[in-house]
Amino acid sequence: MTRLIFLGPPGSGKGTQAAQLANNEQIPHISTGELLRKAVEDKTSLGLKVQSYLDEGELVPDKVVEDLVKERLSKSDASSGWILDGFPRNVVQAEFLDKLLEEVGQWTDWAIAMEVPDDVIVDRLRERGRSDDSEETIRHRLEVYREKTAPLIDFYRGRGQLKSVNGNQPIADVAAALKQAIGS
Ligand code: AP5
Repeated sequence: MTRLIFLGPPGSGKGTQAAQLANNEQIPHISTGELLRKAVEDKTSLGLKVQSYLDEGELVPDKVVEDLVKERLSKSDASSGWILDGFPRNVVQAEFLDKLLEEVGQWTDWAIAMEVPDDVIVDRLRERGRSDDSEETIRHRLEVYREKTAPLIDFYRGRGQLKSVNGNQPIADVAAALKQAIGS
């Protein structure tokens, strides 16, 4: 059973590694960014509500993502493990997740902190070119990460639940380091 949280700045490789590991372990990869982008693409009422936050690199209001995660974790395929990618993103969301998991008798095994220097991130994301990958928005996302999400590293470290992985190496080497970190 694997239950992991992927932390790390934008472009650190959370999505790449989470997708691969989830596929290997046959568990759902739950990316709040992807769920939100899909809503925007489908022009649902949720999508219309959140589009400006994504465009500007701001965090979407907590309640919106908390509802999405609650709904997704309640599906049957998530009963035997999951990888949360991009959630929680601040202490309020982390406390929400604790409470939610407690209610269903689950827990988080590890929070994985992916470490990559800022200049590498900016190069990677500029090359990718997603709609929120302009240099200005990337820099803003990095600021939001430092202010709101980075405190979660100490939050999980303090509970003995943190593993750090060097994300600044080839994708296969990151995957091997990750595997070693979680002991799978
Ligand atoms: P989200 O989708 O979570 O984006 P992000 O955190 O900015 O992360 P990215 O997808 O940019 O990067 P990643 O770390 O997943 O790296 P990836 O593997 O893609 O969130 C987007 C927005 O949604 C937020 O700004 C916010 O508005 C909203 N949101 C989401 N969750 C929220 C929440 N919980 N609360 C509130 N708002 C929320 O890789 C990036 C690139 O690098 C790719 O091109 C990849 O091919 C490449 N790459 C990956 N690994 C390597 C490697 N080892 N070497 C070289 N290249 C690599």
